[in-house]
Order: sequence, then C-alpha cells, then structure tokens
Amino acid sequence: MTTADRRTVYVSRTLPELRSRLRAERAFGRSIGFVPTMGALHAGHASLVQRAAAATDVAVASIFVNPLQFGPTEDLSRYPRTPEADLELLAAAGAKHLWMPEVATMYPPGSCTSVGMKGLIDVLCGRSRPTHFGGVLTVVLKLLLQVQPDIAFFGRKDYQQALVIRRMVRDLDVPTCIETCLIVRETDGLAMSSRNRYLTAEERAQAPALRAALLAAQSAFLAGERRPAALVREASDRLALAPLFRIDYLEIRDPETLELRDEPARPGDLVAIAAHLGKARLIDNLLLAQD
Ligand code: PAF
Repeated sequence: MTTADRRTVYVSRTLPELRSRLRAERAFGRSIGFVPTMGALHAGHASLVQRAAAATDVAVASIFVNPLQFGPTEDLSRYPRTPEADLELLAAAGAKHLWMPEVATMYPPGSCTSVGMKGLIDVLCGRSRPTHFGGVLTVVLKLLLQVQPDIAFFGRKDYQQALVIRRMVRDLDVPTCIETCLIVRETDGLAMSSRNRYLTAEERAQAPALRAALLAAQSAFLAGERRPAALVREASDRLALAPLFRIDYLEIRDPETLELRDEPARPGDLVAIAAHLGKARLIDNLLLAQD
C-alpha cells in the first residue's frame, strides 16, 4: 500500500453505498479485515486497524455509538464524539473504508429482533450492566452481516466482550474469524480506553492502580499463592492505595466458561476487574502466569 492510498478513507453512510464499495473490493479477490468501534479513537484502536491492514488486503473500520448497549443511566449522551480526529487516525493506521451509519440506519423504526445468550453474559460486566451484552451482540452481528469480513479484530481489554462475540460467531455459524488483540497501554500501565478522557487530573494520577492491582495478584500467584480469595485480597489491598476507586467487581474466573474459580487458581485463569473512578467505569484484566 502506498502513502497516497493510505490517506484515502472512503466513508459510507448508507448500506447500499457500503455494500457496493465492499462488493468491488471482493470482486478483485481482496480479503477484508474489520475493526468495529464507537469512535473517540485512540492508539489501541489504531493498533487494531494496523493489524487488520497487515493481516488482510482491505481494512474496514466502523464508528457507531450503539444505543442498545448503554443502560438508562449510562453515558450514551455524553459519550465522546471526535469524528475528524478519528478519520485522521484511521487514515494513518491504514484503514481504507469507514462505515458510519446513523441510528435510524442500524435500527429502522419497527426493528424488534435482537441477539441473546445465556450464562456468559450474566456475570462480570453483565451483572452490573444487564442489557449491555445483548446490545453488543446485536450490533456486532449486524455489523458482521453488513461488512462480511474475513477477520474481525477486537481488543482484549474487553475480555468478556471478545469471548461472547467469539461464542456467538461459533454458535450462529457466522463466517468470520475473530482475532483478539493484546491490550494497548499508556506508559504508566493504564489500559487505553475512550472513557479515560472522563478522568480529572487527580483521578488520572490514581488510574494506574487498576493495572497495579492485577499485577499484585499476578506476583502473589507467581510466588506460589493458589487461593483465589487470597489473590483477590492482594489485588484489592493494592487498589485501596488509590482511594478514589470504587470496585464494581474483582474476580478470578475460568477464562473460557467464566465460572468462578474454586481453589486452586490455575495458570491461564482470568483475573478481571471493573472499578468506578469519578465519572468513568474502567475495566482491565490479566491471565495468571501468562501476561
Ligand atoms: O468495543 C466497542 O467499542 C463496542 O462494544 C463495539 C464492539 C464496537 C460494539 O458497539
């Protein structure tokens, strides 16, 4: 791909426009990599787009702030929207197409079909955000049907999201591979997130404690501790050093079934945390002895 090509991002706002552009790409035999987003893009999104551009012939991104995945008291109306900066980031990262539908395009009046799932979406983030994953699965299935990518790329910060999307794609025979990509972090360890921009300077200074808490559990595990409750205590004691945080959950679970881990904790187990910091609800995770 030349520098000149990299600067052109074709923005589609209607489904016929998107479909005809992607049909033309496929007619040339080009494979399609897809990165769905809600905009307010950062270096984590850029790395997903770079990966899509490296792994496939054509990188397609979408920006759609999906109302279905926000609860009634959540931040839908104030979710950051930065379309011009997003377009620049996408161009620099190597995206060729951007799909930017309106709400009425995604959910025309009368839409009454949604995707459900049992079990996996009821724990962790799904417990505090009961309608969230239904909304995520519904929009992601629609986006996959619209774009029909060969591979779709998701960040591992949203571990549960990536897991439930992989499960949906498998259960519903969606012909797309799901690739989960490593978490991109600020230099002080904070996982990149569009919601980090809600933090005040004081909150931002405490934010790295989220990752530090996970690493405290990791160190204890590597030192031989196998009791999940003791590992959780190591992590919560570390987070307590940053008193502006309020923990939503901090749990050790099976990385595939998301069942709570009984003793002993094992290498590869998921340590997942969500905590409120000011107006932001931040999440992070690690896999014991693997990260
Ligand atoms: O992770 C996100 O940004 C969103 O949940 C997604 C996958 C784009 C669906 O709206």
